[in-house]
Amino acid sequence: MENKIKRIGVLTSGGDSPGMNAAVRAVVRTAISCGVQCVGIRRGWQGLINSDFVQLDAASVGHIIGKGGTILYTARSEDFLTDKGRQRAVSTCKMLGLDGIVAIGGDGTFRGALALSRLGVPVVGVPATIDNDIGCSNYTIGFDTACNTAIDCIDKLRDTMQSHERCSVVEVMGRNAGFLALYVGIAVGATAVLVPERELDFERDVVERIRNARLAGNTHFMIVVAEGVGSAVEIGKQIHEAIGIEPRVTVLGHIQRGGAPSARDRETATRMGYFAVRSFVEGRGNCIIGTREGEMVEIPIEEALTMKKYLQMERYKVLEAVSVSVPKVNPNDLDG
Ligand code: F6P
Repeated sequence: MENKIKRIGVLTSGGDSPGMNAAVRAVVRTAISCGVQCVGIRRGWQGLINSDFVQLDAASVGHIIGKGGTILYTARSEDFLTDKGRQRAVSTCKMLGLDGIVAIGGDGTFRGALALSRLGVPVVGVPATIDNDIGCSNYTIGFDTACNTAIDCIDKLRDTMQSHERCSVVEVMGRNAGFLALYVGIAVGATAVLVPERELDFERDVVERIRNARLAGNTHFMIVVAEGVGSAVEIGKQIHEAIGIEPRVTVLGHIQRGGAPSARDRETATRMGYFAVRSFVEGRGNCIIGTREGEMVEIPIEEALTMKKYLQMERYKVLEAVSVSVPKVNPNDLDG
């Protein structure tokens, strides 16, 4: 199909995630390889309203594939929720001669994408959030790196918890979703993981699990709490009241959003950025690029926003089965 696209914009919006830069690089370089110019819009949708842009060429995205954060900056724009703000964004697109926008971010970014596409500016979305909570895609850029960062922190916490024979309550991000907490909880061998997708029964999910771990010989306990469940400080207090031990509480916070992207995030971001530009060049657009069983797929934005992704509760069973260690067996006691 003939390529009628001459110039596109690329922006990052919402909470940043490791791998956004790799996606920006892929968009710019793919565009150039297709004979399309690329303009960087800074500070997300707000930048489009304010005409805050930067010319990007192949060299300007050199050496960013391994960098955390986003060279285009990011923001959450209140103005873009208003008609006036959106009209100004459309004017910027006209003024810059943009035939489309690649918007890299999460669900808030994609709601903005839908609004803009309805005003006649084609948009392609690339899912990037550490929460992994985008319904139309199995995977979102940044999730793997955030998991690894949280695991690294919790492994360190475990060292000191083990030495002091303590209970640690760790709050991880994820907004209203428990993907980050559950994956991390499994990977660190947590005593218990609390996620918003499962109604909390404090006695069953926390007290009993700590008791069982204690009876099995454990002297330190790791409780991972998704921020969507509530405050880890509160959970810590409840543990104190119920069992009498004094947990130490750690809120990992924004550290989970930083750092060099992992191999998975660099590779996924690069492929998603490539497919986003190809969608425009091949005359489609107005879609989100998602992953399904490892393959890239395009989902119309409107449909994508109605799609739900559920936490696989079978992972919970895995966690429950393996996280409490059994009493150590003295090899001399074994028959044979
Ligand atoms: O969506 C990414 C995320 O990091 C969530 O996990 C978290 O709830 C939120 O953003 C924090 O937002 P802010 O950067 O505005 O504090």
